[in-house]
Amino acid sequence: MAGIYIHIPYCRQRCYYCDFHSSTFLKNMPDFLDALIKEIELEKDYLAGESIQTIYFGGGTPSVLNAEEVDAIIQQISLYHEISSSAEITLECNPDDLNPEYIRQLAASKINRLSIGIQSFDDRQLKAMNRRHSAEQALAVVKGCQLAGFDNISIDLIYGLPGMSLKVWQQNIQKALDLKVQHISAYHLTYEKGTVFSHQLKKGNLRECDEESSNQQFDKLLDMTGSAGFEHYEISNFALPGLHSQHNSNYWKQVKYLGLGPAAHSFNQTSRHWNVSHNNKYTDGIMAGKPNREIETIDKTTRYNEYLMTSLRTMWGVDLEYLMQEFGGPQTTLFEKSFRKYIDQGKAIKEGHFCKLTRDGFFISDKIISDLFES
Ligand SMILES: C[S@@+](CC[C@H](N)C(=O)[O-])C[C@H]1O[C@@H](n2cnc3c(N)ncnc32)[C@H](O)[C@@H]1O
Ligand code: SF4
Repeated sequence: MAGIYIHIPYCRQRCYYCDFHSSTFLKNMPDFLDALIKEIELEKDYLAGESIQTIYFGGGTPSVLNAEEVDAIIQQISLYHEISSSAEITLECNPDDLNPEYIRQLAASKINRLSIGIQSFDDRQLKAMNRRHSAEQALAVVKGCQLAGFDNISIDLIYGLPGMSLKVWQQNIQKALDLKVQHISAYHLTYEKGTVFSHQLKKGNLRECDEESSNQQFDKLLDMTGSAGFEHYEISNFALPGLHSQHNSNYWKQVKYLGLGPAAHSFNQTSRHWNVSHNNKYTDGIMAGKPNREIETIDKTTRYNEYLMTSLRTMWGVDLEYLMQEFGGPQTTLFEKSFRKYIDQGKAIKEGHFCKLTRDGFFISDKIISDLFES
């Protein structure tokens, strides 16, 4: 069982908060696509014949691809891998790309899950973030995708935005719930270096959301999604039962994955490599048969810390049986001993062989996780 991630490094316009690798120079896309098709062939043995359970087109903006290009990529993958008949195949989309004809073509393709970046249902906020779509457009495209037959749709929202009131955030969550989507990813805004937002913050033109407002917004999110039947299965992710993102869940469970395209990461349980975050250098390297990338061997301590970091952010928590099997008895005992104090403080619980954070624990998850790290 393994996953494939494909990074599509193009956006029609840059959003003011985002530092994901992408370029607005779409003219280079044909060269990139040639390289991507070649990289699939070059990396055919990386997953050692494991069957593919998830494929995720992320970005950048994968919906800049037309439906034939999406199909050609999946077709090339299927030449070298066995794609499970129940595979989850996700395409990240921007609302402004989802015209009725494109939605119809995607519905007829192998894509069976859409992740739509809505960010906000408030036009003023959308403008402040430099998004290309309106709230009305976002509502219409989600409905259009549902009518076309998509029954596994996720939407992205951002909270903790400068000047965001609890009332506006509550309205955003309500609109998301009214849409009857299966999955919501809600991220707290982070000020990433080099973005317009972080420059504005430095110049004093933006006021960061204070901790109390952030906590209130997170609390509201948990209350409203919980009442609507969503499981809070990872810090930023909410799904109706059985409809978690399998692709992301597999990252957290340390399942092997192959990442293709510039800036994409790959992981095979013993090492990790990442492609250069530069479209031309990526394309030149692949076409010359010498991928431009860096590789890191993962030692046991790193793998242990990565496991804690990802699993404690999920509703499943740390599996003591997995710890025992992968890291041995003494390490597991040490973990249980350090974890005990959070159970005593009501910030964590142990259920069977799983150790997880409570709602109170989630509020300070970063602190708890770094405290549990092995150095
Ligand atoms: C890689 S982006 C791609 C999505 C797609 N291109 C779009 O814009 O809708 C995935 C998601 O990460 C979130 N995101 C990106 N930068 C962020 C930031 N600085 N703070 C919070 N969320 C962010 C947004 O919600 C975005 O939809
Ligand atoms: S949020 Fe999406 S569209 Fe905006 S810059 Fe980031 S990847 Fe591109």
